[in-house]
Amino acid sequence: MSGPNKQYDPVEVATLDPAHLDAAVTAAFAAFAAAGSLEELKTARLAHVDKGAVAAAKREIGALPPSAKADAGKRVGAALAELGRALAARTVELEAERDRRILVEEAVDVTMPVGRRALGARHPLTLTTQRLQDAFVGMGWEVVEGPEVESEWMNFDALNLGKDHPARQMQDTFFVDPPDGGLVLRTQTSPVQIRTMLDREPPIYVVSTGKVFRTDELDATHTPVFHQIEALAVDKGLTMAHLRGAIDHFVRVMFGEGTRTRVRASYFPFTEPSMETDFVCFACHGDGRTNDAPDGAPELLRACRTCGGSGWIELGGSGMVNRKVLTACGIDPDVYTGFAFGLGIERALQLRSGVTDMRDIVEGDVRFSQQFGMEV
Ligand code: DAH
Repeated sequence: MSGPNKQYDPVEVATLDPAHLDAAVTAAFAAFAAAGSLEELKTARLAHVDKGAVAAAKREIGALPPSAKADAGKRVGAALAELGRALAARTVELEAERDRRILVEEAVDVTMPVGRRALGARHPLTLTTQRLQDAFVGMGWEVVEGPEVESEWMNFDALNLGKDHPARQMQDTFFVDPPDGGLVLRTQTSPVQIRTMLDREPPIYVVSTGKVFRTDELDATHTPVFHQIEALAVDKGLTMAHLRGAIDHFVRVMFGEGTRTRVRASYFPFTEPSMETDFVCFACHGDGRTNDAPDGAPELLRACRTCGGSGWIELGGSGMVNRKVLTACGIDPDVYTGFAFGLGIERALQLRSGVTDMRDIVEGDVRFSQQFGMEV
């Protein structure tokens, strides 16, 4: 093997010849300029930068004697830098062209007429239900559900409605075939209380909404399918003061800050003691009369149509959960107490929105829903 070639003249190595390099750079420029798309530019880069004459020249440097390397390296480096700049400039141009083309090709004519379709609206009952639930969720309570086809035991027995309780009779309850099979369409949401207490350990703070069924004819004030909301709290040390506090909060969310309530003694088999709650009429503010005269005319006092003249509106039933009910659900009534309340959602909607005919709520005419806004 011969020693290092001191006479080596890089100019004589074809690929490193300056003219050769210049020609390679010129050819690359031409290829970049000719590329009509980013894809073609990539092909040109592969051919003229990654491979091709300049890349070959770069490889050749390694074979040069040390004295010649610096000069050759500088020239190849300068050529590569030039190619890099040209490539970047052409990329910018082609990207801009692509973007312009996309804007034209994919443009949407927003003035073009379309087949308009109504978005639909949530039913006012759904809106009211959600509003009611929100009042409880805001207090940290949880929403739970129960089935519409329910066992007689859950719907009646566990709630202390004995076999001879009038509510169980045929004229109120839909029995599921066979009639002695022990299944009914639930007549109230209260069985969800039972399911929850059987399912969970206290503390329990739940609210449940849903359909209930009774054998009524559909008319202006009745419907065989309606909706209730049921609230249940079971914890250590709960008293009627907590119950009133929860009801007051709920009433204020529904009917406005400062709405006063009052309670009356009542009876429900599943609560002891039990009470009915009334709240002050939001139309006459408790006066029982409203002035129906137009502005400026002499007063024309009439009995308030919203509350019927009493100044109060009935909200619903409530009470402290009966010890028998707690016991039926395996909860020790000497350790825990609970309160519950329930009310009809159709009634809440009628009151809040002045809906006078129940059939408007039931029939599903979209013009009725539209009056409540298109909250979709
Ligand atoms: N379930 C009762 C009904 O349908 C309403 C009710 C009253 C529910 C008192 C309760 C309650 O939770 O404590 O008439």
